[in-house]
Amino acid sequence: VVLTQEDLKRLAAYKAVAFVESGMVIGLGTGSTTAFAVEQIGQLLQQGKLKNIVGISTSKKTQEQALALGIPLSDLNTYPVLDLAIDGADEVDSKFNLVKGRGGSLLREKMVEGACLKFVVIVDESKIVENLGASGLPMPVEIVPFLDLYFEKEIGDLNFASDSILRIAGVVEHGMFIDMATTVVIASVAGIILKHK
Ligand code: A5P
Repeated sequence: VVLTQEDLKRLAAYKAVAFVESGMVIGLGTGSTTAFAVEQIGQLLQQGKLKNIVGISTSKKTQEQALALGIPLSDLNTYPVLDLAIDGADEVDSKFNLVKGRGGSLLREKMVEGACLKFVVIVDESKIVENLGASGLPMPVEIVPFLDLYFEKEIGDLNFASDSILRIAGVVEHGMFIDMATTVVIASVAGIILKHK
């Protein structure tokens, strides 16, 4: 059997959904990998295998998907602390630092994921990097309006880069999620690797 990237995304997503328990408040990320997790949560609810789940969505797209699946939704005002969030990422380094936002969502993801007790990142192996930014792909920066930033080489000191970007007038948030993820699920053709901080 040849596993496609879609298969790997689905495998990582299902592994993360195994962490979801009845009664939890769950942050629902954004993107093609997370969509598999949201779909699975919806099915488990419909089958009665999960009960009393409340979802906090990180984008309009996820909100629409969750509503269509009958997942009850709320917001950060009502639930300032979440049990768990599940989300994909564009890049993951060995310390679980992430680049996110290339799918368009970023600020709401950072707010929701910063409010959760556990943050499970789900990726296929193509997202694993040694250092963030080394791919040369744009770093998403949410400003008024959206503008991506390019680094000439890998980012180096992430906190310094973060502070420097946030000091620029008009910047709302950037795509580096530093020291936030607590678990990373990596799906590869060789199997699934689960790493906890
Ligand atoms: C949304 O803007 C992002 O943060 C996504 O989580 C990220 O781009 C990963 O998306 P995929 O699962 O579609 O690769």
